[in-house]
Amino acid sequence: MWHQSSTSLLLAVVAPSIAYAAAISQRDTSLGSATVNLAQNNGAATFLGSGFIYGFPDNGENARDTIPDHFLTDIKFTTCRGGDAQINAVGWAQGDYDGYIGRFDSALSNYRSARKYDGDFVLMLSVLWGAQGGASADSVFPGDNGNWTEMESSKHPALPVEGPSMANSPSTNKTNWQAFMSSISGNDTIPDRFSWHQIGSWQREPDVTVPAFDSLRETYSVAEKPIDVNEYGWPSEQNPANSIYYLSQFERHDIRALRANWGGGSNLHNYLASLIYTSDSGYYPNGDWQLYKYYGGMVGDRISTTASSDLLFDAFAVLSDAKLLKIIAGTRTVQVSYDPIITGFSEHGLATEGTLDVRSYQFDFSGSEVEVGSQVDLGKTSYLGMPIPQMQSPLPLIRRLTQPVMHLRFSFKGVYGTVEPA
Ligand SMILES: *[C@@H]1O[C@H](CO)[C@@H](O)[C@H](O)[C@H]1NC(C)=O
Ligand SMILES: *[C@@H]1O[C@H](CO)[C@@H](O)[C@H](O)[C@H]1NC(C)=O
Ligand SMILES: *[C@@H]1O[C@H](CO)[C@@H](O)[C@H](O)[C@H]1NC(C)=O
Repeated sequence: MWHQSSTSLLLAVVAPSIAYAAAISQRDTSLGSATVNLAQNNGAATFLGSGFIYGFPDNGENARDTIPDHFLTDIKFTTCRGGDAQINAVGWAQGDYDGYIGRFDSALSNYRSARKYDGDFVLMLSVLWGAQGGASADSVFPGDNGNWTEMESSKHPALPVEGPSMANSPSTNKTNWQAFMSSISGNDTIPDRFSWHQIGSWQREPDVTVPAFDSLRETYSVAEKPIDVNEYGWPSEQNPANSIYYLSQFERHDIRALRANWGGGSNLHNYLASLIYTSDSGYYPNGDWQLYKYYGGMVGDRISTTASSDLLFDAFAVLSDAKLLKIIAGTRTVQVSYDPIITGFSEHGLATEGTLDVRSYQFDFSGSEVEVGSQVDLGKTSYLGMPIPQMQSPLPLIRRLTQPVMHLRFSFKGVYGTVEPA
């Protein structure tokens, strides 16, 4: 029997790096740090960012039956959104009933697929009706000329409504956001959830857009509601380091979030929004799916984190009941080094200095169509005399590979205090 004289922690931190060995011997200049503060937690992890738009193959009116269940359950899939664009049926607006029923069946199939895994489904009424991204300006849109008659009749009073689903994220000086906030306030038509996209660095990130939205709410006296980011990630941002960056931002701001889906035509209705691909022998995971699988295993209380001051590096952390701490951290596209700083050890009865065992892992990614296995275990390294609680990793933890799609993820396994036989 072993007696543990103090709590043990397992830390997991993520880092993309090209030259791991070189990085250790020859420390890179860190451009900043993300912090992980064990003294503060944000409630239980519920895998808020494990959703996507479309992504399920259509199957008549039925749930899809081709993608093995574990691809959904391993990532703790939570939400899908559909309506259903880019299929042969063009919707009510241009195809009347025949155009509508094809879209309805596709949406029903996607809904049933989501429900099969206890996921929520967000129905895009405008798309079901016949409007969709990429439509020309002279095609029919809901509410044209201020006439909402046909859209109104398809609204179900018992279902929550979300909006505005704006492709531009909130900014206090954007006139479309000002008009929307003014209108919902003046007409008392505040939706049950707010929604927008976070696509690309030019749309900034929730650390900036949520405060902007709060400011708009204050200006127009609009109540707080839950937020969905209902599409996230530009194509070049769909890889492990960027996925971690987004997930960290969403978890911090309690935003339910869905990956953007850049597939065209039938590819839009497949591959869980670029997490898996297929060959003659069936579906297989890419490197980004492996990251979501790790995220799906991050069970416990969410630990408070902050992004680096340049907002290009961020971290998400959970502490389990068994005092297992896992941290993932990643950069937003840049290929430079950052440090995570972990504080608040004493909150958990840990010694203020001691030995830190670091276990690191690497997440590989070679494109959305390339099969990648589980994260690579890079082994354990011990660091003596860590100045806890203001621990700064001795490793240049985060550094992206020059190939845009490979990342290292570092996982720290730390045992503080002594562990001795009883
Ligand atoms: C609004 O649209 C409905 C359905 O298409 C139509 O019957 C009605 O005449 C329209 N109203 C106006 C004012 O154009
Ligand atoms: C609007 O706000 C954004 C973000 O604060 C800022 O970058 C931009 O310069 C502003 N634009 C105008 C026209 O004021
Ligand atoms: C109600 O909504 C309409 C349409 O967006 C808008 O033109 C009008 O100004 C709003 N009314 C008020 C009182 O805000």
